[in-house]
Amino acid sequence: MDLGLADRTIVVTGGSSGVGLATVRALLDEGANVATCGRDADRLARATAGLDAGRLLTAVCDVRDAGAVRDVVEQAAGRFGGVDGLVNNAGQSRMKGLDESTADDWRDELELKFHGVLNPLHAARPHLKASDAASVVNVNAVLAKQPEPRLITTSAARAGILNLSKSLSVELAADGIRVNSVCLGLIDTGQWTRRHAAADTDQSYEEWQAHLAADRGVALGRLGRADEVAYAIVALLSPRASYITGTAIDVCGGVGRSIL
Ligand SMILES: NC(=O)c1ccc[n+]([C@@H]2O[C@H](COP(=O)([O-])OP(=O)(O)OC[C@H]3O[C@@H](n4cnc5c(N)ncnc54)[C@H](OP(=O)(O)O)[C@@H]3O)[C@@H](O)[C@H]2O)c1
Repeated sequence: MDLGLADRTIVVTGGSSGVGLATVRALLDEGANVATCGRDADRLARATAGLDAGRLLTAVCDVRDAGAVRDVVEQAAGRFGGVDGLVNNAGQSRMKGLDESTADDWRDELELKFHGVLNPLHAARPHLKASDAASVVNVNAVLAKQPEPRLITTSAARAGILNLSKSLSVELAADGIRVNSVCLGLIDTGQWTRRHAAADTDQSYEEWQAHLAADRGVALGRLGRADEVAYAIVALLSPRASYITGTAIDVCGGVGRSIL
């Protein structure tokens, strides 16, 4: 099936690793133009080396910096002639419970999660409005609907972003901009390799992952792959998804137990 993404331009935040990088690759495979960013220049350069530079724009940018985000979006629009899609992916989780979470943790988490969506959205909105197939995908977590107390700030922020996504889908529908979310469970990316490295364990990464999947009750019995998430993101970006807005797709191997 032709997803209709060839020559469309998509901005993907946090494209130097994991889900963002898999999404960049999948979009390039579909013939789209892609702009992506990350904070670490070396990591971004290493991750994107070998990809089609003619259709890929990379920029060092922190999504919390509205001006820097605007520059990336304007560069993309200038080089490729517009912006048709936005994937708000950049971010990370904060493994802390109530008693460990300081006021700074709460402020930093809410800043990253909310401005990580709002800064790119404000920057891209005029371009998205001009597109005939505009789509925004917010990369969220099952935590939004199924909070984990050991990730208390992230769970609360994720719930807020899911709520925000619904409001945006209604608000932006008049401009022809669809807004959807993907809610991730446990996906094998840098987030988990870093946690394994920091864990006090003799288990190999593979053993540790298998134990983690069992402990968290992942129905499919394993962590997901970044390309399995990218598939859902690309589907929501496609003009073929033209009647889908305001929804959230769980990509979680069945770890999510919510029926809503
Ligand atoms: N993996 C999971 O199990 C899981 C589960 C639920 C939700 N998620 C969410 O899925 C998204 C992707 O995560 P991932 O697992 O693919 O993580 P990852 O492998 O650590 O990749 C995160 C990407 O975001 C970039 N990034 C982080 N903070 C940024 C910032 N402030 N500004 C710009 N770029 C930033 C990173 O590059 P730099 O560090 O160089 O900036 C990197 O490119 C995140 O929002 C994460 O919270 C992941």
